[in-house]
Amino acid sequence: MKYSFHTNKKMTTLSKPLRNCFYLYGNCYNFKCILQNNQPEPAEWRRTLSTRSDHDVMGRKRILSGMRPTGKLHLGHYTGALENWVERQNELDASGNRMYETYFLIADYHSLTTSLETDDIFSFTIDMVTDWLAAGIDPEKSPIFRQSQVKEHAELFLICSMLITASRLERNPTLKDQVRDLNMAAVSYGHLGYPVLQAADILLYKGNIVPVGEDQLPHVEITREIARRFNKQYQHPLNGDVFEEPEPKITRFSRLAGLDGKMKMSKSLGNTMLLCDSPEDVQNKLRKAVTDTEKIRKNDPGRPEVCTVFSYHQRFSTPDSVAEIERDCRSGALGCVDCKKRCSAAISRELSPILEKRAEYAASPGSVKDILLEGEHYARKAADQTMREVREAMQLG
Ligand code: TRP
Repeated sequence: MKYSFHTNKKMTTLSKPLRNCFYLYGNCYNFKCILQNNQPEPAEWRRTLSTRSDHDVMGRKRILSGMRPTGKLHLGHYTGALENWVERQNELDASGNRMYETYFLIADYHSLTTSLETDDIFSFTIDMVTDWLAAGIDPEKSPIFRQSQVKEHAELFLICSMLITASRLERNPTLKDQVRDLNMAAVSYGHLGYPVLQAADILLYKGNIVPVGEDQLPHVEITREIARRFNKQYQHPLNGDVFEEPEPKITRFSRLAGLDGKMKMSKSLGNTMLLCDSPEDVQNKLRKAVTDTEKIRKNDPGRPEVCTVFSYHQRFSTPDSVAEIERDCRSGALGCVDCKKRCSAAISRELSPILEKRAEYAASPGSVKDILLEGEHYARKAADQTMREVREAMQLG
């Protein structure tokens, strides 16, 4: 009875929302047939469709990024990711409003791709999140949450896994590098699906911008392909495309060389300086850092372009001292011992407020756990909204 007027009107004369309703009910429940029979609409069918959830009321773009829980962070994590996350979180537009919504995820399921050992995952998570907070991630602005605590990640992962071929995943260069670096004898089904899980992480929160290191670019590309494929296959009756293709954002200081002079600072290579290292730790570690191997005596002329310590100066010292250090190293006026002392001071100057804040959080690890629980509560709501849209588009449920 209620909807009998539909039958008297052509679809094209209905307003857009009504037309969309008609499509949905028509598709899902054979609405036309019900209308013809003039049956009253069962109460449980009176559902409202989800509206788009890409942007908040301010129309802000959403930034989503994440890290695997590897414990205490090193300076490479800081310059390559964390510092940038904090800047984006605090960036304001001309009217003083935040430019972006920011979501930061702890990819604990991703950790299982390279190790099934889970004893340390929780403590590594707390250590890592403590560093995030110390470096300036503000839980009032950015939800911080564990992938494993929001079940929708697994659900969307499953759907995404149908939208990409196995051969496409086998071509993923990041996977090939990982297999080679870790000497892996075989790749699990889940490891092959690493980028698919990452795609689910991004799409679940409709992340528009994904700040990542270079090695993660292929994963964002796969995410874009999955989003495209989904939109091509399924359209939401009200909103059309469910997903936007996210943009990767490479950070400027993507790589920080290791203390041993290797290309990359990395826990597995044992060549790191930690974000929580005290000024003494920083000094001791730098003392052993590799410099220009041809500068043997203090007054030998050096080559800053091949020196790891100089690369740290470029990041942590002021432009004036970088210029001075470069000049004096080349001329032989500056020896490595003094140069390293100056570098330690520059690094510790930057780390000092982080250390202080870290100590506060470390004194009450319960507060870090509470921050996670709150972030997860918030994230679940956003994830639930997206999954509703996904199911509506797929006509599931
Ligand atoms: N794969 C990322 C890394 O190892 C971590 C990650 C998981 C991530 N999910 C993500 C990064 C979503 C950005 C967006 O660094």
